[in-house]
Amino acid sequence: MSDICVLGNFVADNTFYAEKLPAKGQTIFGSGFQVGPGGKGSNQAIAAARLKSKVSFLGKVGDDEYGKMAIELYKKNNLNHKTVFVSKEHPTGVAGIMVNKTDGTNAIIVYPGASMEITIDEVNEFSDLIRNSKVFLTQLEIKTEVTLHALKLAKKNNVITILNPAPAIKIEDEFFKYIDYFTPNETEAKFYTNISINSKSEAKDASIKLIQMGIKKVIITLGEKGLFYNDGKKEIHLDATKVKAVDTTGAGDAFNGGLAYGLSKNQSIEECLELANKVGGMSTIKLGAGDSMPFLKDLS
Ligand code: RIB
Repeated sequence: MSDICVLGNFVADNTFYAEKLPAKGQTIFGSGFQVGPGGKGSNQAIAAARLKSKVSFLGKVGDDEYGKMAIELYKKNNLNHKTVFVSKEHPTGVAGIMVNKTDGTNAIIVYPGASMEITIDEVNEFSDLIRNSKVFLTQLEIKTEVTLHALKLAKKNNVITILNPAPAIKIEDEFFKYIDYFTPNETEAKFYTNISINSKSEAKDASIKLIQMGIKKVIITLGEKGLFYNDGKKEIHLDATKVKAVDTTGAGDAFNGGLAYGLSKNQSIEECLELANKVGGMSTIKLGAGDSMPFLKDLS
């Protein structure tokens, strides 16, 4: 059994580095290229596993080289990967990522491939694992009906649930009652609330709107401006960890993995946020997504 169960996608990130992002219709030369592990779910699972949590990753890959890359990654990072389905019909998903090396910002297209094909029946094969975890963490990069089913299963068994609503897509109102922690970035928070977030007071307004929608605890990550937490009683604002970012891909995933770790160790919300904030920041000083997640020893 695991302390943390992550349901989500693995894709192989094909990342191009350049001094700026190209404009629409423009071709520019890059200064680097790499292929490495990505996918929000997988990145979050790696982040938690590198902090020495017992983590299971529930997902689906293709029967191909990128699928093998995923399994190797889980073996190397001590994750339970018996929960990874291998599709004979669909290839492993891929992402095309462009990174501006000057400030680490990016633009991403994800082709989910096999990861989108995981079914409710397959999730049910591991229902005991979800029920017996301390924390269940998921995102919106697989079919929403599968995500909702798993969230329900977790919440009905008193497992702490985290939904990282990324990428931002429309979800049924029913979702909200099964979410303990909702962790959008400012763009995603705007999608769900229609409130543009440029200040702490706007982050507070958006969090109040989300709480009114039925979510228990809201954490809005604000990039270099840090984060804002609100549970209806307590509000916390933290500045971002000061680092020289070279690639912010997966920083939100690192944050969510760190949060899941803290919650699984029964840490206070203050401790969880401090740690997750640090994990998110540290992930930006290395290139890549899954490969850039810090280890416990990197945080001291
Ligand atoms: O959150 C970053 C991730 O989003 C990348 O690794 C990419 O694969 C996309 O899923």
